[in-house]
Amino acid sequence: MEKNITVIKGDGIGPEIVTQAQKVLDKVAEKFGHKFNYTDILMGGCSIDACGVPLTDEAVATAKAADAVLLGAIGGNTSTSPWYKLAPELRPEAGLLKIRKELGLFANLRPAYLFEQLKSACPLNSEIIGSGFDMMIMRELTGGLYFGARKTETVGGVETATDTLTYSEIEIERIARKGFDIAMKRRKKVTSVDKANVLDSSRLWRKIVNKVAQEYPEVELEHMLVDNCAMQLVKDPAQFDVILTENMFGDILSDEAAMVTGSIGMLSSASLNDTKFGLYEPSHGSAPDIAGTDKANPIATVLSAAMMLRYSFDLDKEADAVENAVKKVLADGFRTVDIMSEGMKQVGCEEMGSLICERI
Ligand code: IPM
Ligand code: MG
Repeated sequence: MEKNITVIKGDGIGPEIVTQAQKVLDKVAEKFGHKFNYTDILMGGCSIDACGVPLTDEAVATAKAADAVLLGAIGGNTSTSPWYKLAPELRPEAGLLKIRKELGLFANLRPAYLFEQLKSACPLNSEIIGSGFDMMIMRELTGGLYFGARKTETVGGVETATDTLTYSEIEIERIARKGFDIAMKRRKKVTSVDKANVLDSSRLWRKIVNKVAQEYPEVELEHMLVDNCAMQLVKDPAQFDVILTENMFGDILSDEAAMVTGSIGMLSSASLNDTKFGLYEPSHGSAPDIAGTDKANPIATVLSAAMMLRYSFDLDKEADAVENAVKKVLADGFRTVDIMSEGMKQVGCEEMGSLICERI
């Protein structure tokens, strides 16, 4: 199989971790007889420096023409980097929002699970952890507060800012369907998270989710208010299979869920549209403080590449091979500094990439 992948290395540790993920993809190509062609585009701070904007239209066109996009991370230190003195629409994150919108990537899948080998890194006590947990957050990615009209104005001499939270029936229906579809491949439970006791958009959300649920009689559906969900994630994470939620709630809950696993450097993500096309990136950020020091953990990006193999290219066997290689590396005692514990062998970003390749 031959596939064209647009690569966005981005800022901070982005280039280091993407390089390792490409190394792993090349090993998969060699082993299973595929060919992956890469085209680099700029996004985020590096694009601001080179082109004056966080994402050019040409870069978007390149990404659109590919079969999938692999992204490292973008952005810098928000208090010290000059990128954050620019107007909001010219900052690194605006590039990310633009590519999500332009490519129609409305479904964001963020798995959060406890790695058996890394149990000791989990901040929850062993009673709560029990035999582990494994959830998938399905976050709506192109609507809600992130994309509603916003303005800052002076009203009666007082500076006033407004953001708008809008969801249409169509936007809710298509993400709900993605949530139920993925639940059918997992443990068949959907927890739809909203704030229906306050927000109109949440009341519509609940109504449409209930409607879509009728098409999936095998899936158990429950509704949960977002504040309660934030509590439940630390009280009893094993109760969740698929968490289905809107953009802003999903942003917050997915960070919480990632932290609860104790290993944010391990978690991948996929952003999909209605075709096989997707953008794959680690759940963590660009960590500018450790950029260029070979300290970054490339596993989240490697596992994102595995999601690309599975969801965009239908290469399940190859995805399994990558995921198993990661498990094997952990079982063999190798750790990057973020997941290091006593008795294990500490390695850098590049060596971790090589160790994974050796096990494919
Ligand atoms: C994420 C990030 C982005 C978001 C930022 C960088 C705009 O936090 O992917 O979760 O809020 O969506
Ligand atoms: Mg976030």
